[in-house]
Formats: sequence, structure tokens, C-alpha cells
Amino acid sequence: MRVKVNRDACQGNGRCAAVSPEIFQLDELGYNIAGEFAITEEAGEAAFRGAAECPERAITVFFS
Ligand code: F3S
Repeated sequence: MRVKVNRDACQGNGRCAAVSPEIFQLDELGYNIAGEFAITEEAGEAAFRGAAECPERAITVFFS
């Protein structure tokens, strides 16, 4: 599985990291600048949870 964060769409809301801190970390200004990265299938539920919380729909979780 993979996670992709659209840095241009992120507005620094922080809800992704609040609900799934094991997947999403923020920079010093509160933005998620992770880009694209691989996760294990076990981490998928947390990744989807964080993506669903983002009001900007900046996070995509997909199978690869
Ligand atoms: Fe950004 Fe959305 Fe997280 S706006 S900080 S990716 S909740």
C-alpha cells in the first residue's frame, strides 16, 4: 500500500496527525509534507482514517 500527500492541497489542519500519528507527522508549521511513501497493510486502516479526516482531501491511500 502507498500513501500520497498533496502538499499543495494541505492547509495545515493537522487532523491527519491527530487521529493517526503513527502514519502522519507534521512539519514545524503544522503541514503534512510527507509526499508519497509505502506503508504495510497493517497500517492501512490508520492511513485511511487519517485521510478521511482531512477536510482538504489532501491524502490518498491506494494499493500498488
Ligand atoms: Fe494537511 Fe489535511 Fe493533514 S490539511 S495537516 S493533510 S488533515
